[in-house]
Amino acid sequence: MNYAKWIAHFNRNKQNRQEPDWSAPIHVPPAMLAPMLRSIEQFRLGDGGGPASLIAFDRENFRSRTDEMRQIVDLWFAEEAEHARLLGCAVQRLGGRVITSHWSFTAFCLCRRVFGVQFELQVLTLTELVSTGYYRMLRKYSPDGPVAAMCELILRDEGGHVSFHRDRLMDKGRPQPGWSGWLWRLQFLLCGYAAGTMLWVNHAPGLKAIGGNTLEFYSEITRQMTRFIRSLRRPVRYPIVPALWAKPVELRLAK
Ligand SMILES: [Fe+2]
Ligand SMILES: [Fe+2]
Repeated sequence: MNYAKWIAHFNRNKQNRQEPDWSAPIHVPPAMLAPMLRSIEQFRLGDGGGPASLIAFDRENFRSRTDEMRQIVDLWFAEEAEHARLLGCAVQRLGGRVITSHWSFTAFCLCRRVFGVQFELQVLTLTELVSTGYYRMLRKYSPDGPVAAMCELILRDEGGHVSFHRDRLMDKGRPQPGWSGWLWRLQFLLCGYAAGTMLWVNHAPGLKAIGGNTLEFYSEITRQMTRFIRSLRRPVRYPIVPALWAKPVELRLAK
């Protein structure tokens, strides 16, 4: 694995980050505001608002492989903490509250902690993919310009994270040829749909209130996961391809 490439990427990605205009006037219809805000409050907790690090009991097996890997993991989680900061600004702008616990977040952390670091890395990879689906829908339908701009910034980072996981898995020789590779793909998709369903159970009211629907969400996460799996069999042509995961869509903002 090319460690220097990832360290350079994360350092470069700190530059040219335009902060959303949090002081812009708010024109969100009341029927949309409450459910959208509840969803963003919860997402702040899940996306970097809790422990911004690997938390599996054997996390050092992965982190301490090399000094470079330790640095990459820290840079990756620094971006996750930045997402929590951005989401916190959106919560504050829309008059919400900072929540520090939720049953789904407790279950998420428990799985990450007890099943070991390889399982935690898979859970986090799938979280990046289904969260990309969430942020793409929020960006598309958000009635608030700064929230859409925030999604744009986060999607840029998540594109890099997904590409990092692709490199990490290919370096490990995943998926292997033959039946074991197909079984790995199948379990990856099933776990991904479980993660996506967990997300949708909590965030459907928020996304539906602004115009999203169930079919669109599942189509989006299916697209993200199948594209990711397909990318694992191709040679790397580009250093990093965030645009692949975060294709821009037209913004629909309230007048
Ligand atoms: Fe994130
Ligand atoms: Fe991420």
